[in-house]
Amino acid sequence: MTDALKSPQQELAERFQRAVAKAFGPEHAGMDPLVRRSDRADFQANLAMSLGKAVKKPPREVAQALLGALEADDLCEKLEVAGPGFINVTLKDDYLSRLLERTLRDPRLGVPTSEKPETVVFDYGGPNVAKEMHVGHLRPCVIGDCLVRVLEFAGHRVIRQNHIGDWGTPFGMLIEHLLDLGGAENAAELSLGELDAFYKAARKKFDSDATFAERARQRVVSLQGGDETTLELWKVLVDASTRAFEKVFARLRVTMKPTDTRGESFYNPFLPEIAADLEARGVAVVQEGALCVFPEGFKNREGNPLPLMIRKSDGGFGYDATDLAAVRFRAQELKGTRLLYTTDSRQSQHFALVFAGARLAGYLGPEVRTEHAGFGSILGVDKKPLKSRDGDTLRLIAMLDEGRSEAFKLLEKLEPDVPKEEWTTLAETVSLAAIKYADLSSDRIKDYVFDWDRMLATEGNTGPYLQYAQARQCSMLRKLAPGEAVNASALRVQHAREHALALHILGFAATVDDVAASLEPHKLCGYLYELASAFSSFYQDCPVLKAETPADVRASRVALTDLTRRVLVQGMSLLGIDAPERM
Ligand code: ARG
Repeated sequence: MTDALKSPQQELAERFQRAVAKAFGPEHAGMDPLVRRSDRADFQANLAMSLGKAVKKPPREVAQALLGALEADDLCEKLEVAGPGFINVTLKDDYLSRLLERTLRDPRLGVPTSEKPETVVFDYGGPNVAKEMHVGHLRPCVIGDCLVRVLEFAGHRVIRQNHIGDWGTPFGMLIEHLLDLGGAENAAELSLGELDAFYKAARKKFDSDATFAERARQRVVSLQGGDETTLELWKVLVDASTRAFEKVFARLRVTMKPTDTRGESFYNPFLPEIAADLEARGVAVVQEGALCVFPEGFKNREGNPLPLMIRKSDGGFGYDATDLAAVRFRAQELKGTRLLYTTDSRQSQHFALVFAGARLAGYLGPEVRTEHAGFGSILGVDKKPLKSRDGDTLRLIAMLDEGRSEAFKLLEKLEPDVPKEEWTTLAETVSLAAIKYADLSSDRIKDYVFDWDRMLATEGNTGPYLQYAQARQCSMLRKLAPGEAVNASALRVQHAREHALALHILGFAATVDDVAASLEPHKLCGYLYELASAFSSFYQDCPVLKAETPADVRASRVALTDLTRRVLVQGMSLLGIDAPERM
């Protein structure tokens, strides 16, 4: 590419800045021209109000002066001042055509790579060993995976971290139970589906059998003391669980790889040293036998200062200490400049405390940003936390199986134009789209209701709707005449529906940028849904392949269809959703 592809919004903003400098002096040129999409026109520039204050002139007069100074004849069809001083902008079809042509030729579809690429360390997934992944692990996987895809596409280097819970007191009872079952050989069969049963059996013995409980406690001591046999048994359990997690990740088609796993146990060797360092420097103090850091501004329910627990009074280390060590490792060893986490929003305070503690300790330089992207719960149709039919915790694999059979029923109604043997694969693809989209399209921080019927609808704001829209565009493009190809230079925006669709397509870059900054996938979902809707309005009013369509118009509309399709596919891939060509 010669010069970077600028969106209309960016181009307008720059032109307005130049107009400001010309009409009111360069000292005001840095002001944000506040160019926004508008339903009155294509865009609205809302800078005259604040500029009016700065130069002590009525905003309408300022707006008029800006129009006098603005050099944008090549872009704008119409410019007018409205209301208290808004500037309404309607763009030229020609200008949009030129931008669309360049967008269609650009493999990145007009999305620039960041000028300030960061090293993002993204902590997501994080299941716990010896427990099967359940519905509570869906959101950290789906949201995390979407955000890492967006950040990578936006040009950042992303290091994924699967911070699995593979250390701590439960391992005492788990290892003892494993020994009771005959040890390591037996554990080879500890495959998916049996982990939960294994955990529950161990728990039951721990709660009811005092000698077993004592053995378990001794075993924790051996584990923490680094006893070799104990560590071997521990490793057996961790490996069995990790294999089970990998299967679920693969089934979810998330981008997490085995090498992205760096669990709690990894940080264990650093903890005594961190404790000693913090104590020596006076960052941490001993209170009631426990070593604590008290970052300012954190209070518990009783209004007392809330500690970041470095070492518990029994001498052990826990979740807080491990996360502090992880922050240090990610900033200092991985050289992360943006440390991100996605978990249930009930852990928000934990992360706020860890971040504040890490800053107090001097483990994070001012250049390192930290953020916890929390999320709400998944509710059943009864508005209570989602459970399996028999009231148990819903296993993630069971949910995916159910989704596949629900999607299969949908396919029977749709009768997709693929051979019947492929329907099971297609059903999985559609079901994953339904599940992921439902999760990503609601405001992250809110709870949402899990309802197959609504999630799987092919009309409305759903994953299958986007897939269906894209598959229909593919089917249109399969109908081109022999030798007829998509031709970017044929793009000519003429019709109002084409104009509206073009504007929407050209907003893709800004949407990706917004999601990368705000970590809010629902904005991308909303964008894609509106794109599919803008396409369907266009398609209704603008015949593409009908015989009466003149050849040049047909060529332009074919190109517009393909461009829309490509943006849809790219956008869905950022959500982690596959786009089948036939449905
Ligand atoms: N294993 C934790 C849980 O199940 C999630 C880990 C999140 N990451 C972290 N660095 N604490 O709640």
